[in-house]
Amino acid sequence: MTVALDLVSVSAGYGDNPIVREFSATLETGTITTLIGGNGAGKSTLLRAIYGTNRFFGGRILFKGEAIERLPPWERLKRGVGFVPQGRCNFPHMSVDENLKMGCYTLPGARHEAAIARVTGLFPMLRQKARIEAGNLSGGEQQILEMAMVLLLEPSLLLLDEPSLGLSPRMQGDVFTTVQQIASTGVTVLVVEQNVRGALLISDRALVMEQGRKFMEGPATEVRTDPRIRQAYLGGNIQPTAA
Ligand SMILES: Nc1ncnc2c1ncn2[C@@H]1O[C@H](COP(=O)(O)OP(=O)(O)O)[C@@H](O)[C@H]1O
Ligand SMILES: [Mg+2]
Repeated sequence: MTVALDLVSVSAGYGDNPIVREFSATLETGTITTLIGGNGAGKSTLLRAIYGTNRFFGGRILFKGEAIERLPPWERLKRGVGFVPQGRCNFPHMSVDENLKMGCYTLPGARHEAAIARVTGLFPMLRQKARIEAGNLSGGEQQILEMAMVLLLEPSLLLLDEPSLGLSPRMQGDVFTTVQQIASTGVTVLVVEQNVRGALLISDRALVMEQGRKFMEGPATEVRTDPRIRQAYLGGNIQPTAA
């Protein structure tokens, strides 16, 4: 296995205050890691630190072996870090196809067609609904469009902040299947999820954050049976699953 991302004692936050403190973790290439933690624990802050959109206080962020913690976000994006922030932010009054074209704006023109063909191949729904206004897609479809727009740029690391928030259970399932599909193409995924149960089922590993610090980490199968995790995040019990 090769290491895609190595966080070494990362501290990051806003203004004068580090929120995430001395957080270390290693993500292997092509794996899915879920980041669990209560509201305000600092999960989004950690994702922003990896992408470079908040204040970095210390530590190292090694992406494919290269230190990126001092690079601006667009340089990280160029190297293959993709970030889908919380909430939907595509262009609701433009068609799916137009949204995908917008998503290509940082690519040379000659590559647009191939990039769009690649993501619509991965998600045929986007081809079927090419002419539909993005705002008229279901919540799950909009989330898939959001991910597709980032995938146009061929990131090798995908940071997802609450991709299933506000979706029906069935659509949450669709989003999780999509995340698995993306990882199966070799993309490394770090996902923050309010649906802890669902996220653990598709993840290889889990990181648990409390008050900005790492509280626990391990294989998802172990974390999901840990009594403290069951109590705090899984409503005190968990169904046996076939996963
Ligand atoms: N843009 C910001 N400016 C200042 N403080 C922020 C900002 N965003 C989040 N915070 C603070 O950082 C802490 C962690 O927030 P966040 O990372 O969003 O938590 P989580 O995603 O785990 O719910 C919270 O106390 C929040 O108030
Ligand atoms: Mg958050």
